[in-house]
Amino acid sequence: MSVSQGSPKQRRIRTPRLLGRIVEHKLMKRVSYKEYRDKVREKYDGPQGALLTTASMLSLHIPLGERMFRKRTFDLHGCRSILDVGSGAGQIAKHLLKYADPEASLTCFDISFEMLRRARNRLQSDVPRNLVADLSHLPFADGSFDCITCGYVLEHLPDPRPGLAELARVLAPGGKMLLLATEDSMAGAFTSRMWCCRTFNRRDLHRVCEDVGLHWQRELWFTGMHKLLRFGGICVEMQRTPTEAR
Ligand SMILES: C[S@@+](CC[C@H](N)C(=O)[O-])C[C@H]1O[C@@H](n2cnc3c(N)ncnc32)[C@H](O)[C@@H]1O
Repeated sequence: MSVSQGSPKQRRIRTPRLLGRIVEHKLMKRVSYKEYRDKVREKYDGPQGALLTTASMLSLHIPLGERMFRKRTFDLHGCRSILDVGSGAGQIAKHLLKYADPEASLTCFDISFEMLRRARNRLQSDVPRNLVADLSHLPFADGSFDCITCGYVLEHLPDPRPGLAELARVLAPGGKMLLLATEDSMAGAFTSRMWCCRTFNRRDLHRVCEDVGLHWQRELWFTGMHKLLRFGGICVEMQRTPTEAR
């Protein structure tokens, strides 16, 4: 183990990062993207995917996410065409159905057909258009949506750039996006181990988003306590930069 450089304070900060890197799941670094994606799909298709709603309740992702839409921390008002990426058990889609304008359309996609089926059963709604798709190759025309929500999916891509570029492509200029992603903290490392995903360094992710035309409008926090403790992972409202402004 190498000793990190810097002041004692910096060293205290870096040690958990290093431990986190040890704990973090490594599968995606060892196999091809296709092999990895098949493993992820298998995982979500299977019993672990069946427990996703329970896990999201226990981690408070569902109630805290709902609070964010209810309080309009991320405001859906005026959004006409919404895309929910990697819908899973419909954790975010349920809030979208509740808080978006009644005339808004909602499209949900996931690589796991089984997760889409579970979401449909859970939501009991005919509103969402559901389809199986991979975040790195989206079957939508440029600028199809004026709002995108992407909760804990990007960490399932070894390189986030192609997925973010696709999201920037299908988001209309000026459109907004809510991104939730697993951070490179200790908590994030355990999440990564459990769900076979990677974690992100906040600054690196910020840079990639800006590169592909997704401007970090505001960093959001579930509560004041999350902000104070810098807990709860990466949560950002982004805006699609018009092409001529890039
Ligand atoms: C942790 S769940 C997130 C569910 C929900 N979005 C939320 O915020 O709780 C991750 C979901 O992303 C899906 N997923 C993983 N990789 C994907 C990819 N490349 N394209 C589309 N969906 C993917 C999984 O099948 C799973 O349903």
